[in-house]
Parts: sequence; structure tokens; C-alpha cells
Amino acid sequence: MRIDVVTLFPGMFEGPLAAGVLGRGLARGLLEVRLHDLRQFATDRHGTVDDYPYGGGAGMVLKPEPLFAVVEQILAQDGSDPGDLPVILLTPQGAPFTQSMAIELALLPRMMLVCGRYEGVDERVREHLVTREVSVGDYVLTGGELAAMVIVDAVARCLPGVLGSTDSTTEESFAAGVLEYPHYTRPAVFRGWEVPEVLLSGNHGLVARWRREQSLLRTLERRPDLLVRATLTPSDRAFLAAHGWRGALE
Ligand code: 6GU
Repeated sequence: MRIDVVTLFPGMFEGPLAAGVLGRGLARGLLEVRLHDLRQFATDRHGTVDDYPYGGGAGMVLKPEPLFAVVEQILAQDGSDPGDLPVILLTPQGAPFTQSMAIELALLPRMMLVCGRYEGVDERVREHLVTREVSVGDYVLTGGELAAMVIVDAVARCLPGVLGSTDSTTEESFAAGVLEYPHYTRPAVFRGWEVPEVLLSGNHGLVARWRREQSLLRTLERRPDLLVRATLTPSDRAFLAAHGWRGALE
């Protein structure tokens, strides 16, 4: 997959793109990230990309000309048309980014991420240039760069071959919609705290059941909102009802 990123701060991406699973995925060519410096598309000698808001008020607004110029150049370079690939604006006003969106985007050959800055971008960019707006959560960042990195990371790990074992994603999708169960590794006793006995039993059926129940309990305690949309078997529902989940009746 190829991801084009438009940003005023391409240097912000260097660390996250070089490290770990993402760095390896890039090195192995499973993923390509092209960074485009918005400043280089300024239309004046001073590299101006922002201006005061019409109507007054605090903060600056990203001008439309550099954004149209960079996005249209990226699309024109390989004969792509607007509509061939999603042009996603990162903004707190966008649709909430979710795991299902990550899975959906990972199926595409390309996408473009446009990082907003300052108080916002000229509304004509939203209306006539980008095709989607996405937010990574209900809080305000100084710019879309960190949000873009979140999306690159989450999408990259959905691409075939990026994670070491394919198992990690299979197990994940099986458990879709509920929180993960607790994990333990050696030693079996650490400072007197023991690993749950069932995990040492070698009984795969019992281990699987314990893990499922732990996932369900954890979700019920911490994120009961997720249970409404989770894929639950009749025995999951019975288990949750026995632990006080009212939604089991619906
Ligand atoms: Cl995508 N951008 C900014 N600036 N802040 C955010 C965000 C995006 N998502 C959550 N907060």
C-alpha cells in the first residue's frame, strides 16, 4: 500500500516510521509512505501557507492554494483522478477513526492523508478537495500529524505480512468488538503473585474459555458501550447476564 502524507512538518514522521513493526514493513516494501512538504507549495516567496480568518477571531487558517496545489500534483503525477483514492483530512471534526476503518483502508492500494494545522483549513478544502474527514478522538491536537501517524500505524498492521505472525490479526478479528484478555509470561510466580492456574494447565479448551470470559468481564467493567455492537454468542450473552449485564435481554 502507498500512503501520501501532506504536512508542514515532515520531520515529525521520521521516528515513528523508522521504528519497530512499521519500520520493518517499510523496509520490506509492504508499505510505502511518501511525505510532501506543504510549505514547498506556497504561492509566494515567503512560503506563506496560512492567513487570518475572514470575519476575525483567534488563530490562523490554512490557505486553500497550497493544499490544492500539492494534492492535485500528487494526483496528476501518476494520472490518478480525484475519486481514485481517498483524500483524508485529519481534523477533530472528522468521523471517529475505528479498527473497522483501519481494516477498510488497508484493503486499498493507496490513500492520501492531509494534516491540518492552526485553527483549521479553509472550508473550500473540505468542500472541494478532500473526500473524507477523520478524527482520532475527542480531544484537540496541535495538528493532524500525530493523528496521521496513528492511522498509518493502525492501517499498516492490518496489511498482510506486516505483523510477524498472521495469528495476531486472526485472533483479533475473532475477538472483534471486545477488549483483550489478560496476558502472562514467565516467571509463574513474580514477587509472590501467581499466574492463573488455568493458563499452566495445558488444557486448551479451558484456556480458551477462561480468556473469553476475561475479555467479556473486562469489557463489561471498562467499556460496556462496546458490548452493544460486539459479536456475541448465546453463551457469551448468558455469561454476561449472569454478571449483571442488562443489555443481554435486548
Ligand atoms: Cl485528526 N487533528 C487534530 N488537530 N486534533 C485531533 C484530531 C485530529 N483527532 C483528534 N484530535
